[in-house]
Formats: sequence, structure tokens, C-alpha cells
Amino acid sequence: MKDDVKKYIFGAVAVFLVGVFIWVGIVFVNACGLSFSCKRGELAVARTPIPTMIPATLPAMEIASSASVDPDKCHVAGVELVGAWVEAGSSKTEVFEFTDANGISCEATFADVSPLFTQANLWYSGSLSCVSCHSVTLAVSPAQLDLSSYDGIIAGSRRADDAPKGTDILGGGKWTSSLLYQFLAETKADVPGHDEALSSGLMVYAGTPLPDAKATPKP
Ligand code: HEC
Repeated sequence: MKDDVKKYIFGAVAVFLVGVFIWVGIVFVNACGLSFSCKRGELAVARTPIPTMIPATLPAMEIASSASVDPDKCHVAGVELVGAWVEAGSSKTEVFEFTDANGISCEATFADVSPLFTQANLWYSGSLSCVSCHSVTLAVSPAQLDLSSYDGIIAGSRRADDAPKGTDILGGGKWTSSLLYQFLAETKADVPGHDEALSSGLMVYAGTPLPDAKATPKP
């Protein structure tokens, strides 16, 4: 009597499970045939929460990307990066070396330096980019200085219209005595664009560690 009841229960469960397998099988074979690589369950188009909207494909805007964390790059004060480039002879393409804030030997090129002049909101929150004032149009650029390109930086400031050379802002390779250092490191209360301390600790991620670089922790 007891065994019969057990048999009925097991029988019912077995029949139910077999039924489920057959049902899933029928649905699957019906949709996909006998293939396991069938993609019919995937969404045909990218969906947005709003059915009529086309999904955005533009990349999100980046703000001050060189200031955002990048673990593969060196971490260095903006002023020191520019300084190392100037001291190394301010080449357009050649690699120069510097030691970053963690004591790691690193290398970089002018391409790591130029964003410091072209990016807004970098030196301090809400700062204008240098080139928004010191633009390629000398007629309106303060101190007739064009920081928008390598040639402009090398040509220097206070240039008459197309004069190839003006005042050297790179101090002849002596960073701390250069005009550029002065205008980055010192606050000039009466000069617009320079009335906030630009160098007050801008740290950037730039350059790459030398292959055999090892951190020498600062004491
Ligand atoms: C709001 C506009 C403005 C911005 C932004 C600005 N500057 Fe200036 N800059 C000036 C003015 C104005 C002068 C002084 C011009 C004068 O004395 O005739 C000046 C002077 C300079 C000088 C000295 C040139 C000389 O021969 O006396 C340097 C170097 C300089 N700026 C670099 C920079 C750098 C680097 C940045 C970006 C970090 C920057 N400036 C951002 C307006 C600006």
C-alpha cells in the first residue's frame, strides 16, 4: 500500500520532468533547428529605455583627460614636466627623460607637454586653456605669444606680425629663469589669466616609465 503511493508519486514526477524536456526540446528545435550556435534569442537591435530613441554612438566627452588616472603612465607635476622638456633642449620629436613624483625614471615627448597648453579646466578648476588667450592670431594674442603649436612656443613672445623670433620664453633652456616658468609658477595679480596660481599642484599622468625603471621611494 505504502509502496504503491511512492510509485505513483515518483511516476508522476518522472512523467512531469520528461514532459518538460520534451516541451523545451520542441520549442528549441522549432526555433533553432538542431544547431546549438543559434542566435535567435539575442536582441536584434540595441535597445534604449525609450523605444523610439536611437542609441547614442558618440563617445562621451572627456574633460582634462591627461589629469585622469592612468596607471600605465607616470605621475608628475605639470610644471616639472614642462621644465624637464625645456631643460632637455625642447625638441619637437625627441624623447626626454624625467623623474616622476614616485621617483620613477620616465620618458616623454613634446606630445605629452602640449596638452598642458591646449586643455581647459586643467591648471585649476574652471581655468581657461592657455591657447584660448595665447592663440595663433598674434594680433589679439596677449604678449603676441602663440602657444597653440610647437613652432609658436619656440618662436616666443612679443613678435611683430610675422617675425620668426620674439622673446625666448624658454629661458634659453634654463627652466627656472624662463618667462614660461615665471608665468606658470608665480601668481601675477594684475594679469588676466595669470591671477590664480597656475602651478598650485597640477599633477598629470604623462609619459611612460623607462623599461628598467624601479621606484625609489622618497624618504
Ligand atoms: C585670460 C587670458 C590668458 C590665459 C588663459 C593665459 N594667459 Fe598668459 N598672458 C596673458 C596676459 C594678459 C599676459 C601679459 C601680456 C602683457 O604683459 O602684455 C600673459 C603673459 C604670458 C607670458 C609672458 C610673455 C611675455 O613675453 O611677457 C607667458 C609665458 C604666458 N602668458 C604663458 C601662459 C601659459 C603657459 C598659459 C596657460 C597655462 C597662459 N599664459 C594662459 C593672458 C593669458
